[in-house]
Amino acid sequence: MRRKITVVGAGNVGATLAQRLAEKELADVVLLDIPQTEGMPAGKALDILQAGSVYGYDTKLTGATDYAAAEGSDIVVITAGVPRKPGMSRDDLLSTNAKIVKAVSEQVARSSPNAVVIVVSNPLDAMAYVALRTTRFPEERVLGMAGVLDSARMAVFVAQALDVSVEDVRPMVLGGHGDTMVPLPRYTTVAGVPVTELLSKEKIDAIVQRTRDGGAEIVKLLKTGSAYYAPSASVVAMVESILKDKKRILPCAAYLNGEYGVRGVFVGVPVKLGARGREEVLQLNLTVEERVALQKSVDAVRELVEAMQRLGVAG
Ligand code: NAI
Ligand code: 2OP
Repeated sequence: MRRKITVVGAGNVGATLAQRLAEKELADVVLLDIPQTEGMPAGKALDILQAGSVYGYDTKLTGATDYAAAEGSDIVVITAGVPRKPGMSRDDLLSTNAKIVKAVSEQVARSSPNAVVIVVSNPLDAMAYVALRTTRFPEERVLGMAGVLDSARMAVFVAQALDVSVEDVRPMVLGGHGDTMVPLPRYTTVAGVPVTELLSKEKIDAIVQRTRDGGAEIVKLLKTGSAYYAPSASVVAMVESILKDKKRILPCAAYLNGEYGVRGVFVGVPVKLGARGREEVLQLNLTVEERVALQKSVDAVRELVEAMQRLGVAG
């Protein structure tokens, strides 16, 4: 039977993701947006569908503004929301996107009750919380995408510094998807060797900072929105591991129940991703310094969740 993925939000991330999914023939794709966008999602879906004739794929694509099209999806990716503009932090999007993600999650729970949900909308860890609370899905079936992207950025910077293939870099970034994220050089390896043995402290510190600023660097260059090529590629890695039950270990935002001493919030940790969604949270041994940095990041996420609760938009 053909699998089905619904991508909610047919903007930059959503449409690019639909294209990537179609090209990989991972599943049929429904691209969904709000009624005010009228034919936009249908137009983009038709355009990607027609590219299949040239590119060589048989993925079925549908664009819609009604959740009837999304019914029974295996995976739903939520990219709905507004992106950052220069000078804005991800947290500036809190209230607007929380309302959007809440509305979307209500529809997802009704139309695809068995789906694995991957949240992309920012601020990511807080929006994943809204999706979990609103859908009332089991914690294993609601995840956030950020760690794969942040790690991808770190991998590129390491590969550039060492002049090696990015394919041989295995990066690791923990924490919330914000300025307090925790890139982990000790757990970032090149052909199995930690980068702490390959690069000076100054070079590693610069890579860590550029990784933390990775999203803002692109916002500043684009001026009209935020990144979408690497973000959509990162979602594909998660989708592929789930649909093919590959059980890859990828850094994802997961709802924690005591792992890393954290309870009751989403935060980026290494997750085993399989058919059931989150199958396991891997616990890395952290130094005192790394633990302190992670706690700072968790506190920043918790502040956002509390702010949403005060505003009554936490789901
Ligand atoms: P965009 O503005 O290009 O697209 C957003 C789309 O969402 C628009 O088409 C809009 O009409 C739609 N939308 C708004 N409300 C909706 C609703 N209730 N239901 C369905 N669709 C709705 O934005 P872009 O660049 O695609 O980014 C989307 C979100 O993803 C932003 O919040 C952005 O910050 C976030 N993002 C997160 C990343 C991560 O690593 N977690 C990476 C990149 C973006
Ligand atoms: C990024 O990191 C905007 O969160 C998005 O590019």
